[in-house]
Amino acid sequence: MVSERAADVTPFLAMDVLERANDTDDAIHLEVGEPDFDPPDRVVETAVESLRAGNTNYTAARGKPALRRAIAAHYDRTYGVDVDPDRVVVTPGSATGLLLSMAALVDPGDEVVLTDPHYACYPNFVRTVGGRMETVPLRPADGFRPRTSAFADAMSADTTALLLNSPANPTGAVMDGGTLADLVALAAEHDATPVVDEVYHGLSYDVEAHSALEYTDEAVVLDGFSKRFAMTGWRLGWMVVPPTLVDAVNRLAQNLFICAPNFVQDAGVAALETPPERLDAIRETYRERRDLLVDAVADWGLDLGYTPQGAYYLLADVSDLPGDAFDVADLFLKEAGVAVTPGVDFGEEAADYLRLSYATDADAIREAIDRLDALLATVDR
Ligand SMILES: Cc1ncc(COP(=O)(O)O)c(C=O)c1O
Repeated sequence: MVSERAADVTPFLAMDVLERANDTDDAIHLEVGEPDFDPPDRVVETAVESLRAGNTNYTAARGKPALRRAIAAHYDRTYGVDVDPDRVVVTPGSATGLLLSMAALVDPGDEVVLTDPHYACYPNFVRTVGGRMETVPLRPADGFRPRTSAFADAMSADTTALLLNSPANPTGAVMDGGTLADLVALAAEHDATPVVDEVYHGLSYDVEAHSALEYTDEAVVLDGFSKRFAMTGWRLGWMVVPPTLVDAVNRLAQNLFICAPNFVQDAGVAALETPPERLDAIRETYRERRDLLVDAVADWGLDLGYTPQGAYYLLADVSDLPGDAFDVADLFLKEAGVAVTPGVDFGEEAADYLRLSYATDADAIREAIDRLDALLATVDR
């Protein structure tokens, strides 16, 4: 028998769309959130050298000391923040860090406050540990950035954690430092822990993304190598946790995952040594792709209503087109061979939207735009 908890877990629609798109000839993938860049050469070489050197056994659950030190140094270099390497826990991807943070903080019935739209998998992490969710609706008029007052209204005596994400999936919104500082302070007033997913840090275009660690030591921050170093399949991420949580997270990691892959951790050190110019060039490429898509959405007469400033997604309102967002996604795939994700994957507030990802090369994006230009010219509105 499947447990109620497992039965409650929803499928990840973007992955379902991917499966269907893979069965469609010549499909262009604007549904997936996977960078199309290769990891830096030095990262691959380091992994191979480490593998050959026999680094294939378990490591300490919280990760190899050299990697934890390299991660702490990254905070000093990037944000001017002093992080004790003892507070760093290396994880097999930031998704694992999300599960560990929920397991460490949330008891059955406890409330987690998060935005709507949100990353599709968040509710399933909360459900898996028996938590309850309270959502804060985001509006395109605010650039899909949260208002502190809306979080204050949503919180209650049962609130254990705020789950935040910036740059955000699926909107590409980037929270400003002031709001992040206010939300961190609000959490402290309620004895709640901010759990902040910073996995898209490094990919923001017109603005600076701030880390919650600039404002507090009491946040759980999740980050990783998947996005900025294009290392999705390597399964490597990290958490920075408050001193009081180190022991609990370490025990959970020991039991649930044992450790992140040994030789991949060595590659992680090499990744953090990548010259910043490489990421600058990649960021510039994403910015160009974003601009292509933002202009195209306007040409299609769809309402974007905001400028996405980070990650590699945008959320376009398709309520003016016939049918619901599922029908529109279906039409795009069947008639134009362009795969996109229906917004409802990311919360009720996004039900009238489609998420478009620009983690696909510019030529493919141009081709998708041409195909959708032609298709949308034939659609009665
Ligand atoms: C907001 C967000 N958090 C976490 C993840 C998981 O990333 P990782 O590969 O580090 O587990 C993703 C993946 O798409 C994401 O979009």
